Amino acid sequence: MENWWKTFFDADYIRIWGWADKPAETAQQAEGIWKLLALHEGCRILDAPCGYGRLSLPIARRGAIVCGVDQSEELLAQAEKNRGDLPLDRLCYVRHDLRQTLPNGRFDAAFNVFSSIGYGSETDDLAIFKTLYLAVRPGGRVLIDTMHRDAGVARFSRDLKPAHRLADETLVVEEPTFDPISGRVQTTWYWFGPNGQGQKSASLRLYTITELIHLLQSSGLKFISAHHGCSEEPFKAEGPEMGGRVGILTERV
Ligand SMILES: C[S@@+](CC[C@H](N)C(=O)[O-])C[C@H]1O[C@@H](n2cnc3c(N)ncnc32)[C@H](O)[C@@H]1O
Repeated sequence: MENWWKTFFDADYIRIWGWADKPAETAQQAEGIWKLLALHEGCRILDAPCGYGRLSLPIARRGAIVCGVDQSEELLAQAEKNRGDLPLDRLCYVRHDLRQTLPNGRFDAAFNVFSSIGYGSETDDLAIFKTLYLAVRPGGRVLIDTMHRDAGVARFSRDLKPAHRLADETLVVEEPTFDPISGRVQTTWYWFGPNGQGQKSASLRLYTITELIHLLQSSGLKFISAHHGCSEEPFKAEGPEMGGRVGILTERV
């Protein structure tokens, strides 16, 4: 399963996960990111990784100057198709492995959202956080939004087999297993419907929020606050999802 993420994010990902991408939720996330990172018109923002530009685009449309970075050629090609009339000096996309650094201090803020870490080793994640740390100017904020171990374990304890149906009637079923020793979830999604069938597997490290903050601090970032995903709402570990996704706001000092 090593390096699974290098081939996972392809045309099938766009078809299966893109259909699940809800415009109202994406708009809400863009709004939350805008507020948490205190963005303003003309500020320079790094969306890393950006996927197919799901959030780069609405944030650039609000007036920020956005650079989206990702390793997936296919997702970046889709992002380019979606750019509409936004010129290159307002929105650019770059193919790059985020374990390697970017130019120092070029951005006012950066974000890494929608569970885009934990794919490789802890060393890989530390390298990605270090890239974000170095990419923002001193005083620049960095936001991470991800699933975390407490929320994952709360879900596994209910033995759920998540399933949903896409707009074209394709049924998508997920079968996850969790290894508490490595802290990794091995998961396979199966889909079947009028436009074909397939499957994809992934291996994700589910960090606790404590571990995530420690890793961010090891990269040089200063912890500011924890939130309910990409929202200003403070994080509370409550309910059947143990608070659900966490947004961790940090700063380069
Ligand atoms: C779940 S997607 C999320 C994309 C985007 N943040 C969003 O909200 O739609 C995760 C993305 O991480 C990218 N990725 C994973 N590891 C990476 C790395 N080392 N360097 C660059 N991109 C990476 C993948 O190519 C994929 O597009």
